[in-house]
Amino acid sequence: MSLAGKHIIVSAGGNREPIDPVRYIGNRSSGKMGFALADAAKDRGMKVTLVTTITPPDPAKYDEIKFVETVAEMREAVLSSCELADILIMAAAVADYTVANPAPNKIKKKGDKLILELVQTKDFLLEVPDTVFKAGFAAETEDLLNNAHKKLVEKRLAFICANDVSAPDAGFAVDTNRITILFKDGRKNELPLMSKREVAEKILDCVEEMTADD
Ligand code: CTP
Repeated sequence: MSLAGKHIIVSAGGNREPIDPVRYIGNRSSGKMGFALADAAKDRGMKVTLVTTITPPDPAKYDEIKFVETVAEMREAVLSSCELADILIMAAAVADYTVANPAPNKIKKKGDKLILELVQTKDFLLEVPDTVFKAGFAAETEDLLNNAHKKLVEKRLAFICANDVSAPDAGFAVDTNRITILFKDGRKNELPLMSKREVAEKILDCVEEMTADD
């Protein structure tokens, strides 16, 4: 069955966790994989909510766009959007740690060292109701398939896109990607290097196939 008319939430970009009003801790995600997914979903006639930390090239093309910075804001935006959604694809590089006590004013330079206390963020994928079809990404630099498989199981996903982000032509900030899709039933689909748009189409083909009986 076609995905037209289904409501998909796509998250994109990396979180910015404030240190003080002018500085943050971030990561190298460019949002491109999430934007490619949101574009491909739009072209299939889906209703698209994009939750993003980065402004996409054409923000007006989506049905809804929610700009966020921190994990806490992304969690809130994703969870509230999921209440009425059919599908969630978490392409965002969610920060694992946030600053315990961000300073209310700009921290002035003093002393040789500045020690920041970081606290672990919440894995909000686990809070998304199981009525939503969920897929995610595993960005890894070592032991790709084992690490991705652990996340597939722990996060109760329908499938996970294992992504070796140490390769120069895959992962962050480039227009191409190479992923292996691991499915919850044990199947595995190793895709060659392709454009992020082509990867997005393959991912949506998997969603379409797995939601065919719904
Ligand atoms: N994710 C999430 N909430 C978090 C952390 C991650 O929803 N707090 C999602 C990501 O968007 C991605 C998947 O979970 O789809 C895996 O994220 P990843 O950062 O690779 O895994 P972690 O569980 O954070 O493990 P680690 O960073 O230790 O590898």
